[in-house]
Amino acid sequence: MKAVICSKYGPPEVLQLKEVDKPVPKQDEVLIRIHASIVTASDIFIRGSRLPLLFWIPMRLVMGFTRPRKTIPGLVLAGEIISAGTKIQRFKQGDQVFGLTGFTLGAHAEYNCMKETDSMHGCLALKPRNLSYEESAVLAYGGLLAMQFMEKAAIRPGSKVLIYGASGNTGTIAIQLARHMGAEVTAVTSTSNLELVSMLGATSVIDYTRVDRLSQEVKYDFILDAVGKMKTSKLKVNCKKALTPHGRYVSIDDEKLALDSKRLDAISSLAAAGSLKPVIDTCFSLEEIVQAHKYVERGHKIGGVVIKI
Ligand SMILES: NC(=O)c1ccc[n+]([C@@H]2O[C@H](COP(=O)([O-])OP(=O)(O)OC[C@H]3O[C@@H](n4cnc5c(N)ncnc54)[C@H](OP(=O)(O)O)[C@@H]3O)[C@@H](O)[C@H]2O)c1
Repeated sequence: MKAVICSKYGPPEVLQLKEVDKPVPKQDEVLIRIHASIVTASDIFIRGSRLPLLFWIPMRLVMGFTRPRKTIPGLVLAGEIISAGTKIQRFKQGDQVFGLTGFTLGAHAEYNCMKETDSMHGCLALKPRNLSYEESAVLAYGGLLAMQFMEKAAIRPGSKVLIYGASGNTGTIAIQLARHMGAEVTAVTSTSNLELVSMLGATSVIDYTRVDRLSQEVKYDFILDAVGKMKTSKLKVNCKKALTPHGRYVSIDDEKLALDSKRLDAISSLAAAGSLKPVIDTCFSLEEIVQAHKYVERGHKIGGVVIKI
């Protein structure tokens, strides 16, 4: 099968497309023909391994100290089950699934084997029938992150929510989740993305490249930093002063992403009901993996960057 191989840490050019053996599933695994993946911020960190010392050592211990332990990268997949081992109960041949591969990686390839139970090695669920494989891959990652952190807000109809970094993969889903819960949503992004976040349901928008402070009059019940702690602005620093007395500020870097198939099922149902629609920035082929990494590394993608396989 075709697979991207990352045999050392470094710039996007370390990624090479190669022919490797197709994986053989065990009795407790499914074999998936992958049709779409995405390149995420996490893929960039793992490949580049350019992290502050505090994160560098734990990350290298997990991912491989001198070179990547798992040579096929890729965290997110959407595809079709080709075969299911005798111990598999949740899935059958022909099921269309989406999920994350966790520390096993391996999604930037034509095939991958996964267990059906949630663990640090991934989580898997049936993909929404009304979405393509490409859309489902984007939804799996942004949806899991957005739902995990939005669940921390006791959102009620009329709650005031601010999503900082509203144009990324997590931000675009978080706006829609907050609207679905009945919140009034203020979305913070840059000038070129203001229209997009309004179309996704934001009730008001703020351009972080032009505005440094929030109005004194409006206070928020929940603020989600959807771009993480490494991206900031004067406005983001000032956001924390705009909470109601019981308001809460949460960053998506506050805790580890939970690989949870129940959440994936809930995301799938919301998408099937038309309440969540993932945003695709660009699609690349497996052969264009180096360009895809360079594109994501710039830090300004909207929604997800897809790898069609
Ligand atoms: N907790 C976990 O385990 C976990 C796992 C994975 C990822 N994460 C975190 O999630 C983050 C985001 O991932 P993602 O893929 O959803 O986002 P993303 O798609 O990489 O975010 C890109 C978006 O960020 C916006 N942006 C860039 N700089 C900004 C700034 N200074 N202020 C506001 N917006 C800015 C860009 O909009 P403009 O072009 O308009 O600037 C762009 O649309 C990662 O960077 C990581 O920190 C956490």
